[in-house]
Amino acid sequence: MSTPCYKNSKQPFEKRIKDLLSRMTLEEKLGQLNQIYRGHENPLPPEFAGQVRKGEVGSFIWGYAQPELRNQIQRIAVEETRLGIPIIFGNDIIHGARTIFPIAPALACSFDPELFERAQSIAAKEARAAGIEWVFAPMCDLARDIRWGRVAETCGEDPFLSSLCNAAQVRGFQGKDPSSNKNLAACLKHYVGYSCPRGGRDYSDTEITEWTLRNSHLPSFHAAIDAGALTVMSSFNAIGGVPAVANRHTLTEILRDEWKFKGFVVSDWNAVKETVSWGYAKDDADAARLSICAGNDMDMLSTSYCRTIAKQVKDGLLPVAVVNEAVRRVLRVKFMVGLFEKPYADESAYESAILRPEHIEFARDCVTKSTVLLKNDGVLPISKKVRKIALIGPFGDDQSEMLGCWQGFGETKDAVTLAQGLKVKFGSKISLTVVKGCSVQTQPRMKTLQDGSTVVDESAGKDDDAVNLSEAVRAAKAADLVIMAVGEPRGITGEGGSRATLTITGRQQELFDAVAACGKPVVTVVFSGRPLSIPAVIEKSSAVLFAWQPGIQAGNGLSDLLSGDVAPSARLSISVPYEVGQVPLYYNHYVTGRRTGGVYRDGVPTAARFWFGYGLTYTKFEYSDIKIVSGKKGKPAEAVATIRNKGRRKGVETVQLYIRQLACNEAARPMQELRGFKRVALKPGESVKVRFPLGGDVLGYVDCKGRTCVDKGDFHVWITPHARCGEALVYVHK
Ligand code: NOJ
Repeated sequence: MSTPCYKNSKQPFEKRIKDLLSRMTLEEKLGQLNQIYRGHENPLPPEFAGQVRKGEVGSFIWGYAQPELRNQIQRIAVEETRLGIPIIFGNDIIHGARTIFPIAPALACSFDPELFERAQSIAAKEARAAGIEWVFAPMCDLARDIRWGRVAETCGEDPFLSSLCNAAQVRGFQGKDPSSNKNLAACLKHYVGYSCPRGGRDYSDTEITEWTLRNSHLPSFHAAIDAGALTVMSSFNAIGGVPAVANRHTLTEILRDEWKFKGFVVSDWNAVKETVSWGYAKDDADAARLSICAGNDMDMLSTSYCRTIAKQVKDGLLPVAVVNEAVRRVLRVKFMVGLFEKPYADESAYESAILRPEHIEFARDCVTKSTVLLKNDGVLPISKKVRKIALIGPFGDDQSEMLGCWQGFGETKDAVTLAQGLKVKFGSKISLTVVKGCSVQTQPRMKTLQDGSTVVDESAGKDDDAVNLSEAVRAAKAADLVIMAVGEPRGITGEGGSRATLTITGRQQELFDAVAACGKPVVTVVFSGRPLSIPAVIEKSSAVLFAWQPGIQAGNGLSDLLSGDVAPSARLSISVPYEVGQVPLYYNHYVTGRRTGGVYRDGVPTAARFWFGYGLTYTKFEYSDIKIVSGKKGKPAEAVATIRNKGRRKGVETVQLYIRQLACNEAARPMQELRGFKRVALKPGESVKVRFPLGGDVLGYVDCKGRTCVDKGDFHVWITPHARCGEALVYVHK
């Protein structure tokens, strides 16, 4: 018997897909659209093997670095099913596979998309070696409300920066050839509008206008699609009552018709079925039909597709062409990641692929480039005169906390804490006392009142959260310098990690206050998945480093910064508020017709404590000669400025270009929009001229039909070190 066309690697993919589709039964097709989860059982329960053998599984969510077990399953799919279609194995590799990097908003603070690209290319190599050919990343959602725990997975609050970072992540994961053993398929999530849940409560509904969708939430998905992303995940939320998984406008009209996306869309976990809970679909069958017809191709976990679609097709309720198209898209990606040619993972590759010295070195580099210096009264870098350091706080020596909200295949034992990093950095030159001081406890004991409401039980729980003030105070008093390591635990960040307060958790504030009262200079290092509202901590500290969730090289990277071996260069990818009541707070909001005086009636400023783009280093830069130079010979005008390092140390400055269109008849445009940046490294006394051409890509917006428009008229233009500073230049675009 001759080899069927779909198995012939010399034939083009589209021809092979057509051939394969023509051989498939409806049930086999639906199997391709079904994704199941491998639980924690090892060996696999027999029903899994049975499902695969019957051709009912197209994909596994596979959270384990066990290529042998994965191959066992794949062997059933390839050798024991009628057509031998391989399974695609996907996993949440978000900020590292085994080498865990800083979380995405931290890496975005580098303002260096190439850093992201390299980090994800390392993650791809390690994940491939673990038997994964598909990752559920990058997360393209725009940070809007920091009560929402998943800001810890975003690239921050700015669509421009976010677009560059997400496109870079796609390039890192997929490389030039997603079928190579170094690359894999990326998945853009969560499409779309998931990041504006009411009250910051994860999974809740959103209201987003077409204008805001087009100009704030979609650009980063669009950029990542243009970078070649092979898959997209639809989100849990509903926009204006329409669940994202069943939204034809976003999934088909925009994604397919406008952007020409050719890969497949997978739902989020059980989201197809949840359209019933939303009160949108009337039952499972309705849910499946509405979702697949809207353009959602694969069903993650709900099994609604494989249980209900065949009957609906047979009853004439759903055209088989819709199913065929979804299957075609899934098969296309399977071909593109090389599964038909190489269905099995190399079982001996993992150990030599992970934690390679160059991966670890790079992870350290990432920490230094993503930790933001928010305040420094001169205490940093640590002076040579300092002999005794007290490192106090629950984040100072906790390996697990360094890993962040997703840990892929990361292991606690790989992480270097700040205590460990400082010991290696300073050795016997400094005596280091490490005091935990208190736990990071976050779960208050709750009690139910007679009326059925639930309140915090103030009388319970304190003992679990023992705070050891006396030991901390003793250590602080004996030290020349105190480093406080405080923050929010990783367990309350990421998915489901919504918070109503944005303070340091448990009894850390009490600990901090007792230590600060000792009168020693305090350097505070904050570990967190989101900006926190901690004005008192900031005011009482001599210096503040915002370390996010830094990954396994936390301690080494932070020690590089504290010692001054490396100067900080990161800039905030998300604004930091004073108080939680200001949230949602982001720099790129609209200008109103009314002035509020800049303060709430209870005295809290309406501005951020630190705006987007803010960050200090160990030297100072001066901006001068900022002007607009008109373009010659048909070239666009340019905004230019001279930047000089006027300090005594070398440093990197991130020069930022913001614009505002003063009158736009489509709809008002935000107060400021980042449209360019340049990182310049300058030695003391050195200066450089920075130029930003003011072309259509800089001045434009997207109208409600998806067209890029550039209007003639007046613009404000800023070249500044961060949002909301500096004088605007006026530019008239003719
Ligand atoms: C639910 C999350 O929302 C999504 O980000 C993740 O990729 C899937 N679960 C799979 O684990």
